[in-house]
Amino acid sequence: MNKLLIKGSRPLSGHVDISGMKNAVLPILYGTIIANDVCVIEHVPPIGDIEATLKILQEMGAIVRYLDETTVEIDTRAVKQGTAPNTLVSTLRGSTYLLGAELARYGCARVGVPGGCHIGPRPIDLHISGFRKLGAEVTDDGIFVSASAPVGLSGNKIVFDKVSVGATCNMLLAACTAKGLTVIDNAAREPHIVDLAGFLNTCGAQITGAGTSTIKVRGVPALHGCRYAVIPDMIEAGTYMAATAAVGGQVTLHNVIPKHMETVTAKLREMGVTVVEEDESITVISNGRFRSARIETQAYPGFPTDMHPQFAVLFAIAQGASTITEHIFPNRFAYAQELKKMGAAITVENNCAFFVNVMKLRGASVSATDLRAGAALVIAALAAEGETRIDGVEHIRRGYVDIVGKLKALGADIEWVEE
Ligand code: EPZ
Repeated sequence: MNKLLIKGSRPLSGHVDISGMKNAVLPILYGTIIANDVCVIEHVPPIGDIEATLKILQEMGAIVRYLDETTVEIDTRAVKQGTAPNTLVSTLRGSTYLLGAELARYGCARVGVPGGCHIGPRPIDLHISGFRKLGAEVTDDGIFVSASAPVGLSGNKIVFDKVSVGATCNMLLAACTAKGLTVIDNAAREPHIVDLAGFLNTCGAQITGAGTSTIKVRGVPALHGCRYAVIPDMIEAGTYMAATAAVGGQVTLHNVIPKHMETVTAKLREMGVTVVEEDESITVISNGRFRSARIETQAYPGFPTDMHPQFAVLFAIAQGASTITEHIFPNRFAYAQELKKMGAAITVENNCAFFVNVMKLRGASVSATDLRAGAALVIAALAAEGETRIDGVEHIRRGYVDIVGKLKALGADIEWVEE
């Protein structure tokens, strides 16, 4: 099935269960290599990026067993360093974490330069400078990144001149078995950083301060296996919140942590959308009409860049003029030309998008260019008048569990088609 077919303008109502967080599971899966033992990870979302990562671990010698649809047992005792299949590694940004994991367990690493969504340059200079601070020699020939620390890694003070989720995760992985204390300053504060630290500490690491901009890692000789449940996916949750706001209706999201959704909730309320928070659920109530607003994407706890395209759809049909300024990924605007095919009035200049509202979007044939742009096109199709065909759906399958099933259950007219 290579396309999505959506008939729009049907309000959403009902309940949706949010799955485990893709961007938390990815570094945790690589962290199981350091455990050199058996780990059981719960709430693993069955999506493309995760399945590809589990395949990489299996190709390296791990024994991977699904205990149920979202619980995975991973035995990494037979994993061999440097054996990750480059064909798979080069398609996933998350493969960068293999560097930190192999360095922590073997004192050396060799990983193909990682790929990922085309949302702008995806450098790893911060990762490399961090590994060097821990005593590793690192080379990058443009195809492979190789690192080695013949006498093992030693704790050090690492000060990032830019907040990076990936680099922060990689330092937690590498430093957890380094000799002595590592202090990471200007660390990323995302919930999935806290989740990775929680997993590593359950495996015997000694990490404090995760979730703040200064994280301390006291190295331990080795880690051991554990059982760990991953946090809910705040971006999947935000996507369903934005969809309900755009289309209209009433939807309750279950298995969410409202605190993780604070900036998304605040922005929707500012636009006049009703958002009701309970301990582990959020209900969005919308009549499909809302005010314009401004967004500037920032690292957590700021407004997440991964929610930018989804809110672009809201801004296209909000009453008045809106703007989005993108501070993390300059090429996040690929969705704009696709939304214009649906009648949106968007002007992109440098790292800003300017929106003038239109009453209604109209169905069209459009292409997903990256994961969150694909999610935005689904929201636009749900809100539009008429029928929309979306191709490039492999981008959507990478990051959203059963998006058709979950939206159908909320009353959407959506299906996979083969064309
Ligand atoms: C992670 O990417 C996520 N991917 C992205 O989600 C997310 O958009 C991003 O964090 C920001 O939250 C995964 O977790 C697999 P960064 P990452 O390092 O780690 C620059 C999705 O939709 N930078 O925080 O690559 C970088 O160019 C994906 O799920 C350097 O300059 O993001 C960017 O401008 C898309 N040098 C900024 O820092 C480096 O060495 C933040 O990037 C690393 C990053």
